[in-house]
Amino acid sequence: MRSLIDISELTLDELDELIRTADDIIENPQKYAHACSGKKLATLFFEPSTRTRLSFEAAMYELGGSVLGFSESQSSSAAKGESVADTAKTVSCYADIIAMRHPKEGAPLVASLNASVPVINAGDGGHNHPTQTLADLLTIHREKGRFGDFTVGLCGDLKFGRTVHSLITALKRYSGVEFVLISPNELKLPDYIKESLKKEGIPFLETGDLEGVMPKLDILYMTRVQRERFFNEEDYLRLKDSYILTPEKLANAKNDLSILHPLPRVNEISVAIDDDPRACYFKQVLYGKYMRMALILKLLEVNV
Ligand code: CP
Repeated sequence: MRSLIDISELTLDELDELIRTADDIIENPQKYAHACSGKKLATLFFEPSTRTRLSFEAAMYELGGSVLGFSESQSSSAAKGESVADTAKTVSCYADIIAMRHPKEGAPLVASLNASVPVINAGDGGHNHPTQTLADLLTIHREKGRFGDFTVGLCGDLKFGRTVHSLITALKRYSGVEFVLISPNELKLPDYIKESLKKEGIPFLETGDLEGVMPKLDILYMTRVQRERFFNEEDYLRLKDSYILTPEKLANAKNDLSILHPLPRVNEISVAIDDDPRACYFKQVLYGKYMRMALILKLLEVNV
């Protein structure tokens, strides 16, 4: 039995396999319509979500399975003090697979060590978000036709942005990837991730100047400043509009730039960019469902 807590647990061959499966689901949805008949997915969301929870649920329904769970901790026995470990043991009695989001870093790992069914990390605090990375990878693959040999700009809240942490962990394994880390000083990428890039000889540049680096980017990954991770509102208000991508700021961008954002968006991408052919963020939303379908099939060991 296998869980997915960190994207590095999947080999490059397995990522390729998930992308092939997602592509096949897109082409042949009927082939998969009953693949998980009789199986149940539990979505245990201790933190708000629109895309991740609903795409997991849509994924399981489109595989012919069913779904149970909760969308806030207050409606579960966590509100009465039940531990993550006991919750995981309990839900294992009712479901075949669990997707868990939790505000505490490491909570899905604790769940996986106590569950008797696979556990998927659907976002843990400011740490990791491996299934968002699966959505990002399918988007990049369909847009660029390759992984590697490109420059990726990551912009915004790189400190708390768990999607950024997981995406760097995935992309650094491909050759020819260069990272440009664009953030205010207070929201720089955590040192432990930068140390791993240095140790592995992966080129990266830190800057606060989005427009200055725009011409060199092949992919621009915008992120929201994570209000829920700040200790005080004053700091959040000061930093929240550090970067707002507008059509004017794209004046020097490449024609084949791909603009990604895990969403939700607050202010950091003007809606005027939504119709730009380079905007990929709503494609990411859709591709997330297909990659979660592929992941559920893999972890449940269902062959179609
Ligand atoms: N990208 C993402 O995790 O979105 P939600 O918070 O809406 O699930």
